[in-house]
Amino acid sequence: MQERLKELQMEAIEKVNAAQDLKELNDIRVAYLGKKGPITEVLRGMGKLSAEERPIMGALANEVREAITTKLTEKQEKLEAEEVQKKLATESIDVTLPGRPVKVGSHHPLTAVIEEIEDLFLGMGYTIAEGPEVEKDYYNFEALNLPKGHPARDMQDSFYITEEILLRTHTSPVQARTMEKHKGKGPVKIICPGKVYRRDSDDATHSHQFMQIEGLVIDENIRMSDLKGTLATFAKKMFGEDREIRLRPSFFPFTEPSVEMDISCFMCGGSGCNVCKKTGWIEILGAGMVHPNVLEMAGFDSKKYTGFAFGMGPERIAMLKYGIDDIRHFYTNDRRFVSQFNRV
Ligand code: PHE
Repeated sequence: MQERLKELQMEAIEKVNAAQDLKELNDIRVAYLGKKGPITEVLRGMGKLSAEERPIMGALANEVREAITTKLTEKQEKLEAEEVQKKLATESIDVTLPGRPVKVGSHHPLTAVIEEIEDLFLGMGYTIAEGPEVEKDYYNFEALNLPKGHPARDMQDSFYITEEILLRTHTSPVQARTMEKHKGKGPVKIICPGKVYRRDSDDATHSHQFMQIEGLVIDENIRMSDLKGTLATFAKKMFGEDREIRLRPSFFPFTEPSVEMDISCFMCGGSGCNVCKKTGWIEILGAGMVHPNVLEMAGFDSKKYTGFAFGMGPERIAMLKYGIDDIRHFYTNDRRFVSQFNRV
């Protein structure tokens, strides 16, 4: 029995020495030290031994078991260390490899222009007001002095949903809604940016959906000169300090008097070029003094309060500013177009 144990020890240690990987090592552990292994088997046979022999054999069996365990642990540590080394060698990172550039998005040119205009007016003490794009006929037309059947409704061909509901044709209904909320008490000083819809055939200068930014100021003693000063400041900030403005008489049902504003051409400075169609002036927006009917309908006393309003198309402004020749570029999502404005 003693010999058998010594043999087993030698055999096991030989195998441990020869083991190539952790799996093999574990197999050896199970084979020699496991419940069904030969050492356990030897120990089981101890019952047949005499009382003197038993402790001697017990001690020897433990010794053998310990020797094998120690060898196994040693080898395991060695193999594990080797494995880590191998992994480090195969998984080494080449830090000299150039990195992949992260693609950074940019503002859509239209968003950039709208934010520029918003910032400008926020700086002059305006707040931003918004309203629904699916609008009541009342706010889109009637409250703006355009009763049913008014010929000027034809200027804004509309998408009707029902007889009383339509896609707003301009952002002016936000004015009407905001005035109503003020319940006849000034001041009101807002700009309303947003999408609007008209039944137009799309071409280089028309789109059935486009953006507008409208402004409205109501208070006591608001005069046409306030409107003119505001628009001149806007034109200079947006198109350059040496811009001049020119107001031409026009007509809008919700303002009286109404004007259209031109700026002196920022390309040629007024001498005449393609951008200003050789006139030296570029039309930018419509404006006027809020019609007393509009004030009264929204609950303001038109003897006490006066106001001005203006409305512009950010697409047109962006087209002029960046030399864009087709309004459809804003909406067709060609990345080659948008990526040109990376630094905007
Ligand atoms: N809402 C007008 C339009 O879309 C523009 C405008 C606004 C004109 C405010 C005057 C005053 O045509």
